[in-house]
Amino acid sequence: MSVLITGIGELTTNDDELGVLTDAAVVLDGARVAWAGPARHAPAAGERIEVDGRAVLPGWVDSHTHLVFAGDRTAEFTARMAGEPYRAGGIAVTVAATRAASDATLAAALRQHVAEALAQGTTYLETKTGYGLTVPDEARAAKLAAAQVDEVTFLGAHLVPPGVPADDYVDLVRGPMLDAVAPHVRWADVFCETGVFDADQSRAVLTAAARRGLGLRVHGNQLGPGPGVALAVELGAASVDHCTYLSGTDLDALAGSDTVATLLPACDLSTRQPLPPARALLDAGVTVALATNCNPGSSYTSSMAFCVATAVLQMRMSVAEAVRAATWGGARALRRDVGPDAVGVLRPGARADVHVLNAPSITHLAYRPGVPLTWAVWRAGARVRGTTHSIW
Ligand code: NIG
Repeated sequence: MSVLITGIGELTTNDDELGVLTDAAVVLDGARVAWAGPARHAPAAGERIEVDGRAVLPGWVDSHTHLVFAGDRTAEFTARMAGEPYRAGGIAVTVAATRAASDATLAAALRQHVAEALAQGTTYLETKTGYGLTVPDEARAAKLAAAQVDEVTFLGAHLVPPGVPADDYVDLVRGPMLDAVAPHVRWADVFCETGVFDADQSRAVLTAAARRGLGLRVHGNQLGPGPGVALAVELGAASVDHCTYLSGTDLDALAGSDTVATLLPACDLSTRQPLPPARALLDAGVTVALATNCNPGSSYTSSMAFCVATAVLQMRMSVAEAVRAATWGGARALRRDVGPDAVGVLRPGARADVHVLNAPSITHLAYRPGVPLTWAVWRAGARVRGTTHSIW
C-alpha cells in the first residue's frame, strides 16, 4: 500500500534538484519512494500521515560499525578516562570473549544493537568481522552479520593475534581466511596503523581481496600519522575511515580521488584523540561521511545524532553538511548512493528509508544535543517506530 507523509515542515532530500523543501510531502510505494515535492502537489495514496510541521530526512546510513562481538570493556574505558591511552591491543579482549560465545549469543547481541540503531533512525547499516581472527571464527562472524545487516566487511586484518608471527597471519588472512569469508561479504578492510598492519602488509591483504572481487575500505590515520590514507587512495578504496591525523599530502590525495573520508568523532572523543579536520577536508572538496564506529572498545555508541551534533558543535561542520555526511555521505562510502538500491536520499526510486524528527528542522539535532528526537522511521517502506508524542 502507498503512504503519503505530509505536513512536512522541512524536507531534506539530498537530491540536487529537489534540495530542501518546506511544506512538503513524500509518497512511499512499497519499498521505494514514489514521489517527493511540495505538499500541495502531492498525489493521493492509500494511507495519509500528517506530521504537523516536523522535519523529515533520509534515514541515517551508518557506514562503519563492529557489531559482531561479545563481552564488555568498561574497565578499559574507565582506565582511559583516568589517563591511560587507547591501545589497539584491547581488541584482543573482545576477540577472546567473542570466540567463547555461542552463535546464538552473538546473533542476539547483534540483533539488539541493530534494533537500537534502527530506533534512532539508522536505516542502513554496515558492520565488520574482526573479533574472530581464525578462519572459522571470521567465517562465523561474516555469516551472522550477513543475516542481519545491509553490508558486511571482512576485517580479519584487525589485529595480529598474540603469539602468531605477523607475516604468517597476513598469509592466513589473504589466503584461507579470505576464501572462507568472501561468499558472505562485499568489502574488505585493514587496520593500517603503526604497530598493527604496516603499508606492505595492508596492501597484500587488500590486493588479494580486490582480486576476489571485494570492494576496499581502510582504517587509516586513527592513532597517528601513517600510510593508511595514501594506501586507500592508491588502491581506489571506497572509503578511508578515521582520518584523525592527516598531512597536507593526505588531504591533497583525498581531494584528487573518489575515496570518501569517513569521520568517526565518537571514537575520537572516547579515545581522547583530537577530532578530525572536517573543515579542511570539506574545504578541499573531499567527500565526507560520518559514522558511529560502534564497537565495545573505542566507541560504544550507536547514535548517529550524537555524531552529527559533535560534528557541528566541535568540528565546524554546518548542520546541513553534517546531516548530509551522515546520510548521503555514508551511502557514497558504501557505493549505494545511486541506482535502484540508493539510500541516504529521498527521491523517486530510492529506498523508502525515512526519518521524521520531533522537531521543526534538522538544526535541532545540534541545537538540542543528546535529546532523542526520532519521532518515526520507515525502513524500506516499513514503519518501524512511531509515537504521537509532541512537545513543540
Ligand atoms: O575502529 N581501529 C580499529 N578498530 C576499532 C577499535 C576496535 C576495538 O578497540 O575493539 C576502531 O576504533
